[in-house]
Amino acid sequence: MIPQSFIQDLLARVDIVEVVTRYVQLKKAGQNFLGLCPFHAEKSPSFTVSPSKQFFHCFGCGAHGSAVGFIMEHRGIGYVDSIRDLAQIAGMQVPESERAAESHSKIRGVTDTLARAAEFYRAQLKDSPAAIDYLKRRGVSGQTAVRFALGYAPDNWQPLRGAFEQYDDSRLVEAGLVIADEAKRYDRFRGRVMFPIRSARGQVIGFGARILDAGEPKYLNSPETAVFRKGQELYGLHEARDAIRKSGRAIVAEGYMDVIRLAQSGFEESVAALGTAITSAHVSAVFKAADHVIFAFDGDAAGRKAQRRALEAVLPVMADTKRASFVLLPEGEDPDSLIGAKGAAGFESALKRALPLSQFFIRSVSGAMDGRPPGSAEERAALLSEAKPLLLSMAPGAMRLQLLRDLAEVTRTPLDSIEALYGLRKAPLRRAPGQERRTPHMEVGDLKLGILQQLLAHPLLAREFNQQVIDEHLQGNDRVDLEIIEVWRAATSSTASEAAALSHGALLELLTESEHANQYRALAAQEMEIETGVEMARQIVDEAFSKLKLRRFERDRTDRLADYEREPSPQRLTAYREADQAYMQARGAALPELVAR
Ligand code: UTP
Ligand code: MN
Repeated sequence: MIPQSFIQDLLARVDIVEVVTRYVQLKKAGQNFLGLCPFHAEKSPSFTVSPSKQFFHCFGCGAHGSAVGFIMEHRGIGYVDSIRDLAQIAGMQVPESERAAESHSKIRGVTDTLARAAEFYRAQLKDSPAAIDYLKRRGVSGQTAVRFALGYAPDNWQPLRGAFEQYDDSRLVEAGLVIADEAKRYDRFRGRVMFPIRSARGQVIGFGARILDAGEPKYLNSPETAVFRKGQELYGLHEARDAIRKSGRAIVAEGYMDVIRLAQSGFEESVAALGTAITSAHVSAVFKAADHVIFAFDGDAAGRKAQRRALEAVLPVMADTKRASFVLLPEGEDPDSLIGAKGAAGFESALKRALPLSQFFIRSVSGAMDGRPPGSAEERAALLSEAKPLLLSMAPGAMRLQLLRDLAEVTRTPLDSIEALYGLRKAPLRRAPGQERRTPHMEVGDLKLGILQQLLAHPLLAREFNQQVIDEHLQGNDRVDLEIIEVWRAATSSTASEAAALSHGALLELLTESEHANQYRALAAQEMEIETGVEMARQIVDEAFSKLKLRRFERDRTDRLADYEREPSPQRLTAYREADQAYMQARGAALPELVAR
């Protein structure tokens, strides 16, 4: 934890104009500075930075905040990292609690070790004719090898002895480079071409390693370490960053070699997952830099499965201003081999035939990749049921509506029947007179319904989320708030051991007298079809609460800005700044930090 007093000092010391100028060209315009907004595409400047108020505000897209918020948004890094960044600009030393300092120095130990190893592997490549020859045969140019800092791990038991005086240093194990058996220690990577994986900031956080020619396993990857999270990091994102920003799109492939061959052929905006399925965190990271994500997976069964997983990962984080497309490669080809056979033009023409999300969605859920519409009532019913969990995972918005419309068309089912079938019709809100606030964010309604549904299905979760239920819903006054409270009370009224055993049916039984009993039964029936497991349910509820909290802070921050702009005063400015700080901190906590320090 960084002390609050330090953050206040820091913010008093840094000048937002100086910070923003590092990334955006600003021109003085009266009291303020004006430039092209880095958060949306615009031709005439509406991005305003105020030195007296120390905040920025874009009148085009509505983005606003302090210097910390600017760094977080612009660099796509977390709250703590942004504070570190600003401290560096201001020449201040970030004080840290002993424990934080300890874990920080541990992380430093790991990243320093990885950097040194990467340097060693790189030097080894120059002295290894076999590895150079292998890369040449695969068409990798010297320039590309430099761009991706490729290396080679020599083929003996302890190559890293050549880079570290103390081979038994525990940091080599913590960094995932050395395996420590009871009796002996040896290098994880031996006789392999090394692909350093870098964080968005450019620090080496792990390696992929390919065997020369044939052998098993073909690729070895670093294990998860203090700095390496496979579900969040993408191969090539650091190298691709500029190209992604410039082109506004990112190509997501499956393999290391695809990224390398794509970049070498002019598609520098390419990245890949690290031998794991694409997650929503991956997609969010890419969407931060680009509005358009194109998935180009291998033309084989595994690639098609990966593509379906990518669809499932995209939907929950899809925003109406973003686009996703899916390239269907010819059977047996991957981007690397396609470029090998048909050149960059071959891949370009595959890109042109990419399916937009909406088309890919229907084909994927119907299992008919040729786009043939379902021919029988049974097929249409199956399609509707297959599509349901995917559509329910989306935030309400124009994109979800479009997918629902397309679905309505191919299944020959009226849109409102589908909405009713999926439980997407909102019950009217009941409000006491005089309490009329502006309509809550649509998404909030969905998050709450999700919580209610999971609490009904998994009564044991009620107790785990005591505090969140109290914080979010006790004061709430819409119908779903009242229902959540009622269900939570019923599920927690029994003793802990009873609660653990309290089945879904028993809970419904306890609630039969409620005026909301019908709604509970309807939600329960819906959930019977989806059958979310308890682990997943816990995650859904946890995420929904984090998002609700974040929404609350976000609303408060927007309200404060509006208050201030309506009637400026120093008190109102301070109130806005405080709300902005609280929001940024909550955001740092709610969204996983995508970048290792
Ligand atoms: P591929 O087998 O398609 O690899 O696996 P590729 O990149 O096309 O490799 P080449 O062209 O044969 O050299 C795709 C990705 O899956 C992971 C790696 O991240 C790889 O790039 N993978 C594959 C592993 O982690 N381990 C393996 O044994 C194989
Ligand atoms: Mn491949």
